[in-house]
Amino acid sequence: MEENRFQSCWQTVAPPEFPKLSGDCNADAVIVGGGLCGLLCAYELQRRGVRDIVILEAGRVLHGTTARTTAKITSQHGLIYSSLEKGMGTKAAWQYAKANEEAVSRFAQIVQTEKIDCDFVPCDAYVFSCTPEGAQRVREEAETARRLSIDASFTDKCGELPFPVQGAVRFSGQARFHPMKFACRLAEILRERGVKIYENTPAVALDDNMVLTGAGRVYGKNVLICSHYPFTNLRGFYFARIVQNRSYLAALKGAPELSGMYLDCEEAGLSFRSARVDGEPVLLLGWGSHKTGHETDVSHYGKLEEEAQKLYPGCSVESRWSAQDCMTNDHIPIIGRYRQFGDRVYLATGFNKWGMTGSMAAAGILSDLILSGKSEVADVFSPGRSDFRLQAGKFFQEAADTAANFFHGYTEIPKGGVAQLKNDEGGIVEFEGAKIGAYRDTDGGLHGVKTVCTHMRCPLKWNPEEKTWDCPCHGSRFDADGNILENPAFLPLDKRGPD
Ligand SMILES: Cc1cc2nc3c(=O)[nH]c(=O)nc-3n(C[C@H](O)[C@H](O)[C@H](O)COP(=O)(O)OP(=O)(O)OC[C@H]3O[C@@H](n4cnc5c(N)ncnc54)[C@H](O)[C@@H]3O)c2cc1C
Ligand code: FES
Repeated sequence: MEENRFQSCWQTVAPPEFPKLSGDCNADAVIVGGGLCGLLCAYELQRRGVRDIVILEAGRVLHGTTARTTAKITSQHGLIYSSLEKGMGTKAAWQYAKANEEAVSRFAQIVQTEKIDCDFVPCDAYVFSCTPEGAQRVREEAETARRLSIDASFTDKCGELPFPVQGAVRFSGQARFHPMKFACRLAEILRERGVKIYENTPAVALDDNMVLTGAGRVYGKNVLICSHYPFTNLRGFYFARIVQNRSYLAALKGAPELSGMYLDCEEAGLSFRSARVDGEPVLLLGWGSHKTGHETDVSHYGKLEEEAQKLYPGCSVESRWSAQDCMTNDHIPIIGRYRQFGDRVYLATGFNKWGMTGSMAAAGILSDLILSGKSEVADVFSPGRSDFRLQAGKFFQEAADTAANFFHGYTEIPKGGVAQLKNDEGGIVEFEGAKIGAYRDTDGGLHGVKTVCTHMRCPLKWNPEEKTWDCPCHGSRFDADGNILENPAFLPLDKRGPD
């Protein structure tokens, strides 16, 4: 099959390799997940004196969402502050602001202290709107942010953008970087300082403070779940509190270099930032937002490239890719004690596409909770907060959506027999009287699987753009051979069809 069609522009930097776990062990802290969040938690805990730290990674480190992000380092998360202050009060908005402002500063400190060469560039961040109604909302955001001591201001000009705006809120003193240069070096630093990192070691269950893997059991005095979607999610109903949402990115050559970073205030709006890839300037254009396993009939890449040509005629697309992140009902990450497992199990997830600062904030908060039992900014992120009560409508909407996915999936009529699949075509087909999922590759080879998600048995949808099987319930993704691409599932699909 064709490989790497949708690699991000950051993935030319290869992460270091680590061994697989073999046998049981103990640690002061066991961290599940080797993405930015897991690595930063390990870094922070070790810096504050925790000695034995083990990181368990299901696949290879830094092959998850961190490798496919836009990598804006900012406390400006859309128009979060005005809605947060209205919905949860000034104290909650202040805690959110403080955690994320400190996270921006911490990146600068770590880059400097550890001398990490990662194209770190201080810059301003803007959320703009092209409508008068939107301009009113960004003005309100600027006022709220200023009240929360953020260096924010309103402007009606974003002269670097290829279209006029009605208004924008600017946060000064933010930053952008190359996430893989930063995180790969961080992983090496952790190894040099004695943190044990095990790859190809998925955590499959948690028994009190014992993390079970196929290669051994790891007992942790503290267990931190940083696996993007929590690998264990039944307790606490996390499967109903988190959805995975996808967006699309292109790295453009022949577009101008921007000094600022920009984001439309509308949910699926455009995102802009400049970057250097192999020393060459590119402009990263982002667009789109949909639940994983939905909109499978939309040409997202086609639309993104159309938009790129409209905005920057004659530019070329150097690379294009998609990524997904965990979204919470109230748009606030979930960071804190995973109470359903007792006092020493912690969770960091639901970064709502702001997991650079979200991961850094999680590292600070979880270290505070582990080492001193308290954190002055933890309440707003608490897993035990009342998002379920406040967002009951969304909760039941998700439950109804899941039921509909089951119904449509199990009643989907096959598009014909396996023989009818053309080259580079996939979908649900009939094979020996049963329904299977199949993809015929560009050389005519057939890849057949059972299209039942190994997480909670939701029927999978064929994604014709990326040639993957995507779960419309909680966002697991599998390649055409059934190998896992994105969790929460950690078991591959069963093979089906002719050998
Ligand atoms: C399109 C897009 C653009 C974004 N842009 C920005 C941005 O500009 N700024 C910003 O702040 N944020 C941004 N984000 C969000 C940010 O990239 C993510 O929130 C962040 O990278 C998540 O890091 P993570 O470590 O939690 O997850 P990941 O990087 O996905 O790492 C999780 C790791 O856990 C491992 N794992 C999973 N299950 C198990 C298991 N059972 N056992 C062991 N290991 C396991 C996975 O294999 C993976 O390696 C963006 C997100 C998207 C989708
Ligand atoms: S991801 Fe939960 S059923 Fe598929």
